Amino acid sequence: MSNFKTMTCTIVSLLLLFCLNITIPCCLAYNVVSFGARGDGRTDSTSAFLRAWSAACRSTSQPNVYIPRGTFLVRTLNLNGPCKRRIEFRIDGTLVAPVNYNAIGHSEFWIMFYKVSGLNVYGGTINAKGHGYWSCRNGGKSCPQGARSIQFMWCNNVLLKGLTSLNSQRVHIGIGYSSNVRVENVKITAPSGSPNTDGIHVQNSRGVTIKDSIIKTGDDCISIGPGSMNMWIEQIGCGPGHGISVGSLGSSNNEQGVVNITVTNSVFTKTQNGVRVKSWARPSGGYARNLMFSNLIMRNVGYPILIDQNYCPDNNCPRQNSGVKVSQVTYKNVKGTSSTQEAIKFDCSKSNPCTGIRLQDIKLTHNDRLRRSAVSYCRNARGRRGGTVIPRSCF
Ligand SMILES: *[C@@H]1O[C@H](CO)[C@@H](O)[C@H](O)[C@H]1NC(C)=O
Repeated sequence: MSNFKTMTCTIVSLLLLFCLNITIPCCLAYNVVSFGARGDGRTDSTSAFLRAWSAACRSTSQPNVYIPRGTFLVRTLNLNGPCKRRIEFRIDGTLVAPVNYNAIGHSEFWIMFYKVSGLNVYGGTINAKGHGYWSCRNGGKSCPQGARSIQFMWCNNVLLKGLTSLNSQRVHIGIGYSSNVRVENVKITAPSGSPNTDGIHVQNSRGVTIKDSIIKTGDDCISIGPGSMNMWIEQIGCGPGHGISVGSLGSSNNEQGVVNITVTNSVFTKTQNGVRVKSWARPSGGYARNLMFSNLIMRNVGYPILIDQNYCPDNNCPRQNSGVKVSQVTYKNVKGTSSTQEAIKFDCSKSNPCTGIRLQDIKLTHNDRLRRSAVSYCRNARGRRGGTVIPRSCF
């Protein structure tokens, strides 16, 4: 018996030693509460967060910014690098913006990581409380520009995992001028009528992966802007929303192209579009090529397969053609139902027809009480088909 006690004691002491020696010194936790933040949902914790961030950013021993359980009210957070070491930013609690939309709405971003190389952001909920801002927009009043909820700007080697973003004023998650960014297990929720609340917007970035995420919002679930290269998008549940879009492209004359984008194993439910390529009907040097859309399920989707090169919402491009060149686009194993008759629609530019479009194993039926069958629409599009393609393709 006493032997057993000694043994237990030794094991416990060893465990304690193990914890003291290994766990604590290796990962210094910069808990925002020790810097003066309060998780009461009312106290403005902005400066405490900024102090915790700069201490962690200066640290040389695997710094860990920690936000414990609780609701933390924060205004604009500019979390600037470069930092000395890879930073872990762990959120167990919820970050909320002030209810008055002016508090964050005059800056472009609510929470921004800027020039950080080596960053893991885990967990947590961010709630921008966008309702007041959307009412302002929908009321046609003059409103501030509105803030994206979380943005990675000029960042490299980033992992964003397990974040929930609610009710952003505009784009929920933005990635710009960054490389090697993985977004996993995120949940994005905003009402279907909320204006310009894209789930994830990527622009001028390379090597972005978005996986295992659920996006329900008022604009594109994912939008892929000019200068996006080598993107991988997999296991996304999209809807409500406007679908996954490459674009809008060609809004300016001098624009970088979009190259090598894969969207696979994803489900679209009651979205305005499925997978879309969209460009302005204006002169541009832009392009989109090597796009692969495969293994997609469409459930009552407006335009499941869509290339729209005649985008011109305020009609300020009359009789112009899109200069954006769309080529090498493959649609493979896309199945389900369309809520409009035009289940496949390629409306390409007269001066720059779409080329190298490939349709393989497509089965899209029209979800219609009058049982009118689905059709394909093609203008200025060239390509070929393989396997069974329903509705009958133009190629
Ligand atoms: C295309 O992008 C993927 C990542 O999504 C990458 O693994 C692959 O190497 C890229 N292909 C080319 C030809 O660059």
